[in-house]
Amino acid sequence: MKSRTISELLSQDFVSSEVDIKGWVRTFRANRFIALNDGSTINNIQCVVDFETLDEALLKRITTGAAVHIKGDLVESQGKGQNVEIQVTSIHILGDSDPETYPIQPKKHSFEFLRENAHLRTRTNTFSAVMRLRSSLSFAIHKYFNENGFYYVHTPIITGSDAEGAGEMFRVTNLDAKKLPLNKEGNVDYSEDFFGKETNLTVSGQLEAETYAMSLGKVYTFGPTFRAENSNTSRHLAEFWMIEPEVAFMNLAGNMDLAEDFMKYVLKYILKNNHEDLEFLDKRLQDEDKTKPQNERNEMSLIEKLNFVTDNNFKRVSYTEAIDILRDSTPNKKKKFKYIIKDWGTDLQSEHERFLVEKHFKCPVILFDYPADIKAFYMRLNDDGKTVRAMDILFPGIGEIIGGAQREERLDVLKQRMAATNIPEEDLWWYLDLRKFGTAVHAGFGLGFERLVMFATGMSNIRDVIPFPRTPQNAEF
Ligand code: 4AD
Ligand code: MG
Repeated sequence: MKSRTISELLSQDFVSSEVDIKGWVRTFRANRFIALNDGSTINNIQCVVDFETLDEALLKRITTGAAVHIKGDLVESQGKGQNVEIQVTSIHILGDSDPETYPIQPKKHSFEFLRENAHLRTRTNTFSAVMRLRSSLSFAIHKYFNENGFYYVHTPIITGSDAEGAGEMFRVTNLDAKKLPLNKEGNVDYSEDFFGKETNLTVSGQLEAETYAMSLGKVYTFGPTFRAENSNTSRHLAEFWMIEPEVAFMNLAGNMDLAEDFMKYVLKYILKNNHEDLEFLDKRLQDEDKTKPQNERNEMSLIEKLNFVTDNNFKRVSYTEAIDILRDSTPNKKKKFKYIIKDWGTDLQSEHERFLVEKHFKCPVILFDYPADIKAFYMRLNDDGKTVRAMDILFPGIGEIIGGAQREERLDVLKQRMAATNIPEEDLWWYLDLRKFGTAVHAGFGLGFERLVMFATGMSNIRDVIPFPRTPQNAEF
């Protein structure tokens, strides 16, 4: 007999068939009803045991968290809330779980507590739903690029350059940190290090992706990236996953079209394929809302929000227009921004981004043409000499979800920008080569995968959408 997942058993018509199933006990009620889950669906299957025929010692071992192997008959359920149930004919305990010490009790746990038990938290409904959605979104991303003629490029994890020029890197060395040799100038001498030079974990695969776009045309990377920014916020991780498409012969307008089309596609994919999990998370948020004061409640439910984003155009606004709006606005009658923008050229804080998206435009916003001074060296300088063809996409509840740009394709301008930001040409000689040999207009963007998962699941802390979060002072698992 082929064993089937609980998802298959519940969604198909196998009534009155023999079944063979393995999973973990969620609850065991009245010595009779096992709620069993195998991770394939948010729903448990009810397994009914005939306790009179079962050995007392065996009954005691059917506890929350135990792994069991059940054989039985799938029949129409007498109880409410499920169509089918299993009449158990044999039960075998695969792995016991001590009910006294098992951390995931059948009750509501705080997310803080569950973070400390990240190795077991996916046995709860919320986290299993989030992680199934995370998996589905990854698949949808690959599917989108595959259907649109992109090649998947594996850019390196260990790099010899700083792609963002922001200096927020984790150093990689095989030398004993305590005995790092110094050169005459008193700096660490990396010539004896494994790679013979200073290396770090990548902050972005963009520069390497650009080299592939300039040969394969349309490419993307999807991999882990690392940032040593010491920001302990609900939207930053030290290790996060980034999706970075890069396209030759595409300008900033094409980049915006691509980003919008791509975001809508992946969100539509989960609306179509992950309905049960989304409904569960939607209900969770509505219940949470009921405990909040009226003015802090969500205006739309999770599923309404996802539908809204996929059905409406993103608003495209230049940085300069945004600054004008922000100068004239106060977020509400009583409160001003914590940081008041006075001058053109100031970087936006997340309070401003959230205001534009959630209060002013009330839809996703693509901000473009930022001041050159607050953006990375590789962005295409506009003819005004002071703005660059950058774009950030801001989402409700999230703020910045995508950062991208048309790239500077002119060798002389790129060199000037690197000099102005103290990036040595010898570090990026290969990047400059792209501008020497067959240079062309090209553009791309980076989507923070965890921020997408936050938006898609309604989770409010980024630590709850990645299996094992890495944040300052935290790499327990
Ligand atoms: O805006 P960023 O820094 O852009 C780049 O890295 C470009 N090289 C991308 C490109 O054009 N190919 O990062 C892109 C996105 C952000 O918009 C955000 O969603 C996410 O990556 N991100 C983070 N997510 C979680 N934790 C962090 N510390 C993040 N830093 C950036
Ligand atoms: Mg950014």
